[in-house]
Amino acid sequence: MTDQALPKGMIRATGTTGTHEGYMPGFGNDFETEALPGALPQGQNSPQKVEYGLYAEQLSGTAFTAPRGQNERTWCYRIRPSVKHTGRFEKIDVPYWKSAPNIDPDVISLGQYRWDPVPHTDEELTWITGMRTVTTAGDVNTQVGMASHIYLVTKSMEDEYFFSADSELLVVPQEGRLRFCTELGIIDLEPKEIAILPRGLVYRVELLDGPARGFVCENYGQKFDLPGRGPIGANCLANPRDFKCPVAAFEDRDAKSRVVIKWCGQFHETFIDHSPLDVVAWHGNYCAYKYDLRTYSPVGAILFDHPDPSIFTVLTAPSGQEGTANIDFVLFRERWMVAEHTFRPPWYHKNIMSELMGNIYGIYDAKPQGFVPGGMSLHNMMLPHGPDRNAFEHASNEPMEPVYQADTMQFMFETRFPQMLTEFAAKEAPLQDDYIDCWDSIEKKFDGKPGIK
Ligand SMILES: [Fe+2]
Repeated sequence: MTDQALPKGMIRATGTTGTHEGYMPGFGNDFETEALPGALPQGQNSPQKVEYGLYAEQLSGTAFTAPRGQNERTWCYRIRPSVKHTGRFEKIDVPYWKSAPNIDPDVISLGQYRWDPVPHTDEELTWITGMRTVTTAGDVNTQVGMASHIYLVTKSMEDEYFFSADSELLVVPQEGRLRFCTELGIIDLEPKEIAILPRGLVYRVELLDGPARGFVCENYGQKFDLPGRGPIGANCLANPRDFKCPVAAFEDRDAKSRVVIKWCGQFHETFIDHSPLDVVAWHGNYCAYKYDLRTYSPVGAILFDHPDPSIFTVLTAPSGQEGTANIDFVLFRERWMVAEHTFRPPWYHKNIMSELMGNIYGIYDAKPQGFVPGGMSLHNMMLPHGPDRNAFEHASNEPMEPVYQADTMQFMFETRFPQMLTEFAAKEAPLQDDYIDCWDSIEKKFDGKPGIK
């Protein structure tokens, strides 16, 4: 239908100002996009012949028979089928990128740990060689658990591509901007945003400005999903429209290229003579996407007490046991603190889940000192933790007025599995030996006599 055919006086939308060029909004939508007109077959997935001489190929992110609401696949129309994008494989060493199970007999993972930011180096490090595993949990070969990493990137990948058959990657930049050129399109990513790169998707990572540093959660298990909101209702937390999926983009480039594959915790390389980023059009719901953490709408206490931190869940990766996540990705961002007669920071607790936190920027209310941007902490399964003495005293005595917690953004990778430290985390990374001492000066106030102390 052309505009001429519209009823008189009726104006039809052509787009929205909030949807940035190159992206499509929505979480888990069934998208369709074509970089050349007519490249996407209409009305069927696998025509006898595809326009432009393209090959049709399905990328399945779930088992064929997964329930409809979880079933994810994308149909790609590409210059060459993916079998042309790998050859024979050779094993290679990527020594700092570890997979679970990775239990080092000389490392004690039992404890509360905190790290200063891992410093940049002058070394040339790509997305692959710059990955530094901090913790692993579960077992990559049974597709349960996760790993947490720090990445330090100083060099773009050139004629080099990567995919992980083991995992989807959740990327949390802390410094510097990255460009992910993927089979399904281009994602530009900056601090305060996150990206999800699904299992099996081929991509190249370029440095837009650097050096770049950030955090990665490598999810071995079921894909990240939006959490159920329960009584919260249909809105707030992470809203589906704020997730952005790239439109199709391809390159028809002949050059000797290296493809690195992570498969069952091991790395392999294979060489081809062209770029594998050759998907001209695609449709489906299995795709890479990004999300701006500044659009997260926190819900919290508006009268008294502090809810469980799960109230701040952005994405959750289920484990098969309802309500007990393989991974929750949780965000502590700017918000108002208004609770009355309440100790407002996170309370002291012990947790069956293990909590790895990272600081993107600003000050975290339970630890005003020592947990700096770029830093991390780990409170492992059933290890007690909570505010340090200063935070406790401040929160116990502050006037109960509304306080805006400004310029702050931390996150948590929380998993049902204990997290094992790597040798890098225990011996090379800037571990704060005195972290445990932050609770030393907490005093006994109890004297057996009634009254507020
Ligand atoms: Fe905690």
